[in-house]
Amino acid sequence: MSIRPVRKAVFPVAGLGTRLLPATKSTPKEMLTIVDKPLIQYAVEEARAAGIEQMIFVTGRGKGALEDHFDVGFELEATMRGRGKSLHALEAARTGFGEIVSVRQQQALGLGHAVWCARHIIGNEPFAVLLPDDLMAGTPGALKQMVEAYNDLGGNIVCAEEVAAERTASYGIITPGEIDGNRTQVLGLIEKPAPAAAPSRLGVIGRYILQPEIMAILDATEPGSGGEIQLTDAMAKLIGTQPFHAVTVDAVRHDCGDKLGFVLANLALALDDPEIGTRVAEAARHLLPLR
Ligand code: UTP
Repeated sequence: MSIRPVRKAVFPVAGLGTRLLPATKSTPKEMLTIVDKPLIQYAVEEARAAGIEQMIFVTGRGKGALEDHFDVGFELEATMRGRGKSLHALEAARTGFGEIVSVRQQQALGLGHAVWCARHIIGNEPFAVLLPDDLMAGTPGALKQMVEAYNDLGGNIVCAEEVAAERTASYGIITPGEIDGNRTQVLGLIEKPAPAAAPSRLGVIGRYILQPEIMAILDATEPGSGGEIQLTDAMAKLIGTQPFHAVTVDAVRHDCGDKLGFVLANLALALDDPEIGTRVAEAARHLLPLR
């Protein structure tokens, strides 16, 4: 069977972001900035670098800023041009990203439901899913590393990471089969198991490459853990009918969906920033002894 290229990516960005309140009361979580760029831009840049041509945002009420961010900021650009200021940062946020389309998720019924909302745009093609609150720092980007594995293996690929034994209840956990380097055959998937019930410590993180057959399964999936339609439950049903692998990528994941992860991501990326890194390190060294 020939392996069809992955050209489309779904960005589920309709979640409520309750763990980051009050910041997310009227600002979409994905518009929160890490150093000087919103989370969504990191994810779109990663997708583009992996060869994705169409970016599909699954948005909801109050998420308009996400679409605006990738538009031409006409007044801003005209004013800055008039004042002789560099437009580099603005241009970087609106050029070279391929096509951006959006579709609404009317109610936050879960990640599986959000992906299902993109079914008409996906049609009959394989596609990637990127959760922008998992910021993946690495070169080449995490999705590009997954696409490389996909081009060999086909089927479905999830990004995975060893998680701490006591944290299995925060992840979809994999029942592993054969292991070949950074690729593990997936024999089963279970959403948020308690540590005693977890089949391994290999947890699924926010990057996926899926075959379009997942949409029909999502269509028939009842709400699971937390009353939400879980992507994990639908993916589990694909196992055995199509190739299914987990790939551990060479990248650092920053989970920006809660307060600690968000602050640490800012610190880590600020320390790596060529413009301010040295001064951030100095300031941190100065602050720490005061604790
Ligand atoms: P999270 O589990 O982080 O949920 O969703 P959340 O609502 O964004 O945040 P909290 O838990 O209330 O703080 C993981 C990803 O799935 C998207 C989110 O936007 C995020 O990218 N999502 C989740 C949806 O698009 N729709 C949903 O119904 C749920």
